[in-house]
Amino acid sequence: MERPSYLPSTLRPPRAQCLAVVMVGLPARGKTYISRKLARYLSWLGYQTRVFNVGAYRRERLGMKHTHEFFDPSNMEAESARRSMARAAMEDMLGWFREGGEVAIYDATNHTRDRRAMVRQGCERAGVPVLFVESICDDEAIIASTVREIKLNSPDYVGVDPDEAVQDFSARIAHYEQRYETLDASDGSFVKLINVGHELVLHDLRGDLPGRLVRVLMNLHIVPRPVWLTRHGESAYNVAKRVGGDADLTPRGERFAVRLTDFFNDHVIPGDDVQVWTSTLKRATQTARYLPSPLVTWRALDEIDAGIFDGMTYEEIKAQHPEEYARRQKDKLRYRYPRGESYEDVIQRLEPIIIELERQRSPTMVITHRAVLRCLYAYFLDQPPSSCTRLDVPLHTVIELTPNAYGCDEERVPLGDPVPEEV
Ligand code: SIN
Repeated sequence: MERPSYLPSTLRPPRAQCLAVVMVGLPARGKTYISRKLARYLSWLGYQTRVFNVGAYRRERLGMKHTHEFFDPSNMEAESARRSMARAAMEDMLGWFREGGEVAIYDATNHTRDRRAMVRQGCERAGVPVLFVESICDDEAIIASTVREIKLNSPDYVGVDPDEAVQDFSARIAHYEQRYETLDASDGSFVKLINVGHELVLHDLRGDLPGRLVRVLMNLHIVPRPVWLTRHGESAYNVAKRVGGDADLTPRGERFAVRLTDFFNDHVIPGDDVQVWTSTLKRATQTARYLPSPLVTWRALDEIDAGIFDGMTYEEIKAQHPEEYARRQKDKLRYRYPRGESYEDVIQRLEPIIIELERQRSPTMVITHRAVLRCLYAYFLDQPPSSCTRLDVPLHTVIELTPNAYGCDEERVPLGDPVPEEV
């Protein structure tokens, strides 16, 4: 008999969706930051994604120390070496596509039409569409902060006196400026990002995937702010080890709601426009009920839908539906509860939440459920979707995440009454 709609899904659209995202921009325009951000988002959505960074090829094959003279366009020998590094990265990228890669991000300056034509023609021969993403920035404060960041973190300047590093890096930028050609219609599909998302110019975009990437790009910003993720307080169903449902908090859960309010008041600076988001389920809204900020309730934050098993214990599922139980054990990510959801489904429905969280510039507290929290956490900590189902997200603990230039800082704050891990 044919099985109905709860067969496992595949998270991503079919392979025809492969794409090379080719970065364009002067040094210190956030290309690597954007590349990593896009890669994290795409991997989380289930795409086979990889970043090919031409600077890393140069360091690996030609050595670590290259002063600004190496980037001088009149230095023909260096120009030829740089071109061969760009080509090597491109060939590796095309080989990776042949092996099943889906979205590559080619992270380099690609600041001349000639260099871009080389990459585009290589991709076209391999049947891979190209989307150029150019980062333009003329805000001196942003450039200065990126130069500072690079001086502190770039492998190019390890052990170099900080002032010397800034001077050398500025001279490198000036070399690139001499030949810089911005994208135009002759480049094909592109997105120009001006001053970290203040302005966006789109040209000849086709398909779903470029559209999704534009949504990420238009919400980029570099304002540091915490995201507090927590599960609801303990509920009657947690105690009874039942899945799903819409149970009330237990007295322990109630105490957590009070402690969470103390945490909130201790961490929020007066005047902060803090967002508090919860699911629509009682245990989440009850956990938020003493918080001084208005709640935004999202259906998308509701717990994974256990379908016909809603309200059962795992012992009962195992005894009454052993095949379903075994299928779930085998592949928890793709297993879809009969008439319910899989973790993959949850990731899909959380995409707008991620975009909204990325957009926020003020602290946000998210009160939700175990499976949902695992999926959100996996995004911020750049964990593969396959790990979602195992991530440790205990009750009565706030996970404070502070996105930074290249990832996320994490602190876990237990708020009393530890609860034995449920099913
Ligand atoms: C690099 O070698 O750091 C990158 C070269 C480039 O993208 O122009």
